[in-house]
Amino acid sequence: MSALLAHEKREIARRMVRDREERRAKGLGRVNGAAMPDGEYEDLPQSHYDFDHHPNAIALWLRSNGAEHAYFRVHDGIAADTTVIGGHAYLNFTNYNYLGLSGHPVVAAAVADAVARYGTSVSASRLVGGERPLHRELEHSLAEILDVEDCLGFVSGYSTNTFTLSYLFGPKDLILYDALIHNSVMVGAAQSGARRIAFRHNDWQAVDDLLARHRREYERVVIVVEGLYSMDGDFPDLPKFVAVRNRHKVFLMVDEAHSMGVMGARGYGVREHFGLAGGDVDIWMGTLSKSFASCGGYVAGRRSLILSLRYGAPGFVFSAGLTPGNTAAALAAIGVMKAEPERVKRLQDRGRFFLSRAKARGLSVGNATGFALVPVMTGTTEKSLAMTQALFQRGINVQPIIYPAVEEKGGRLRFFVSSEHSEAQIDQAVQIVADEWRRLNAS
Ligand SMILES: Cc1ncc(COP(=O)(O)O)c(C=O)c1O
Repeated sequence: MSALLAHEKREIARRMVRDREERRAKGLGRVNGAAMPDGEYEDLPQSHYDFDHHPNAIALWLRSNGAEHAYFRVHDGIAADTTVIGGHAYLNFTNYNYLGLSGHPVVAAAVADAVARYGTSVSASRLVGGERPLHRELEHSLAEILDVEDCLGFVSGYSTNTFTLSYLFGPKDLILYDALIHNSVMVGAAQSGARRIAFRHNDWQAVDDLLARHRREYERVVIVVEGLYSMDGDFPDLPKFVAVRNRHKVFLMVDEAHSMGVMGARGYGVREHFGLAGGDVDIWMGTLSKSFASCGGYVAGRRSLILSLRYGAPGFVFSAGLTPGNTAAALAAIGVMKAEPERVKRLQDRGRFFLSRAKARGLSVGNATGFALVPVMTGTTEKSLAMTQALFQRGINVQPIIYPAVEEKGGRLRFFVSSEHSEAQIDQAVQIVADEWRRLNAS
């Protein structure tokens, strides 16, 4: 659970005092709601053995108050440029279906074939239970896109980061990550036991300076950046980070969750955007859940890295392999992306169009670059939630990003654009957002 807000802390303390008094008055302890006789543990705070009193649960109850309407919305069909929720049609901006490939008939047919042939699960770790040809086909395809020797697929993008970092780095090492890095990198870094330092967003110079002074204090050092930042829609000057990596003999890891399929002329990611070689980065990490219409993650790089993960990374070795369906979906999605490069171009055009319309209507879009995701800054949690609700009533489905995902005053609506959005849909949506924003601020 992220840091608690002051009123949450006060509420938790108040409840703890009240519980203690109640228990004293009754002469009882309670375990998960059931009475238990007075005994050895009577003095234990209830939050130590009862989830109803767990600080995380209390904070979430308080936080979700008024926000339920924005989350866990149930879609009745394929969520693409439009969606249907509760029987009503909406313009949809909440999914990472960047290339419109989730729901694409070729991808759906590949999944059906894979399930018919290999079943719904590989039913074991690939190491012991064996692979399916699809696994290596997908990995070779990704390695080729990234211009590297090999690749390994994992069952979740999130855990690809956590167990790659925690497996490769340890207490004598240093992990340097961008201040806006995804939570999965921070958690993986914490699990590794390495020293961790967050550097100012996109500030390669700060990293260079820090390494000039401290490189020799550590064994391995890894710098972790994203190809495209998921909260702000901007990207690092990757060639500068590569130069820092080369200068100080450190590793460079790039999380391409949002840049793969999105940046570069063919959608080959931030590497293609900058014209870098695959070997300029040590750990290319990405997810299958966004452009590639599936679920899972991958790491690509040198054969030695992949070998080490294949035989050693606990999250791979002791976990069931990617399902045939998910593997086939990603492989087929890559096939469609390669066969129809116009999808990538359309995605890039539509992203830029969204950005230019939003700016023209006076909306604040932070540092967005127009690649696939554009934040519209709304400030406080209250305003972000009010905007989400007002837009929903006007037929637009968009998610608020609020504290603790961003700073309390850094609330925003995050618009995910896809190759399937038309200019007319984007124009209409931006106009409604601008209207509602004006109305909210006038009231
Ligand atoms: C930058 C980044 N890395 C990793 C992940 C985790 O990927 P997945 O959702 O596929 O598990 C996400 C998820 O949104 C992400 O934005």
